[in-house]
Amino acid sequence: MTTATAIAHPNIALIKYWGKADEAMSLPATGSLSMTLDVFPTRTTVTVGEGAGAGSNATAPDTLTLNDRPATDAELGRVTRFLDLVRELAGDERPAAVVSTNTVPTGAGLASSASGFAALATAAAAAYGLDLDVRALSRLARRGSGSASRSIPGGVAIWHAGDDAASFSETVAAPPLAMVIATVDAGEKHVSSREAMRRTIATSPFFPAWVTSTAASLERMVEACAAGDFTRIGELTESNALRMHATIQSAEPPIRYLTAASTRVFDAVAGMRVAGLEAYATADAGPNVVVLTRPDDREAVAAELSANAGIAQPVTTLPGPAARLESGGGADATGPAASGAGTAPGAGAPA
Ligand code: DP6
Repeated sequence: MTTATAIAHPNIALIKYWGKADEAMSLPATGSLSMTLDVFPTRTTVTVGEGAGAGSNATAPDTLTLNDRPATDAELGRVTRFLDLVRELAGDERPAAVVSTNTVPTGAGLASSASGFAALATAAAAAYGLDLDVRALSRLARRGSGSASRSIPGGVAIWHAGDDAASFSETVAAPPLAMVIATVDAGEKHVSSREAMRRTIATSPFFPAWVTSTAASLERMVEACAAGDFTRIGELTESNALRMHATIQSAEPPIRYLTAASTRVFDAVAGMRVAGLEAYATADAGPNVVVLTRPDDREAVAAELSANAGIAQPVTTLPGPAARLESGGGADATGPAASGAGTAPGAGAPA
């Protein structure tokens, strides 16, 4: 019996991933760029071998415990499909027992699938004896959930569009950043991002413009990061988020993730800028808003959100670490798995 435990953190995109070029391979329509958070980690243990799948039937031999409760069939099915990729790579058909604990509210638009599949990829690769570097691990995590790819490297990460070999994530240099999370609603979202992406692609007349404009914004964002231009990073962030939501709203039937409470936060952030406190808002597939600011300004932004936008407990975060195994190893960009020893870049990732 082999056991591995991994920890991964969620990420929030500054340039969003919205839409797939290839759903089966989880290849994005455009590249994206995010900051991994230092809050809300997911901790996942994968145990392979004797008795790991005991009690389950032959068609779904894995078991999954999520936040101390047995997973639903849909949740288990998604994890089993992911583990099948790992088993194929490892040439090992044994089932696994997976135990995962999320500290981010599941389904609330705060990317629990990103930390979830990043932790699962890291733990499962180790438990099945695969030696994958950051690039290969990020390609593997991508197959579970696109945004999970970006939670494999730490800090600010770019996830490249391209074919299977080219679509990996890596850390990019960026000036000091911080975020403040404004949770306006911790409930489950009504349309999953996966489903909403499909609907947007199938029905939105604006989707092609979203793809071309996001590719251009990503190039500008990479330049702004390299130049350390915080203002430009913030402007591109808020503009790209609102373009994503406009595109989603233009689907048929429409999907609206932002609520009146979300809009109040966007307004409060605009007010902060007028008052000289530099902050920019973004939001994923849910009503919660995340505010990008400079590290020195994060407490002031949190205080403003409490005072002027009705946010009960804003959570501040700095750039978070890479996904890692709990006892040494892992995918830390500065750690042993990325040191160049072992697997060649991209080797071993799913075909
Ligand atoms: C709005 O990565 O959850 O958060 O690949 O279908 O699992 P799947 O989608 P997912 O979508 C994330 C969408 C987003 C934007 C982003 O994180 O870039």
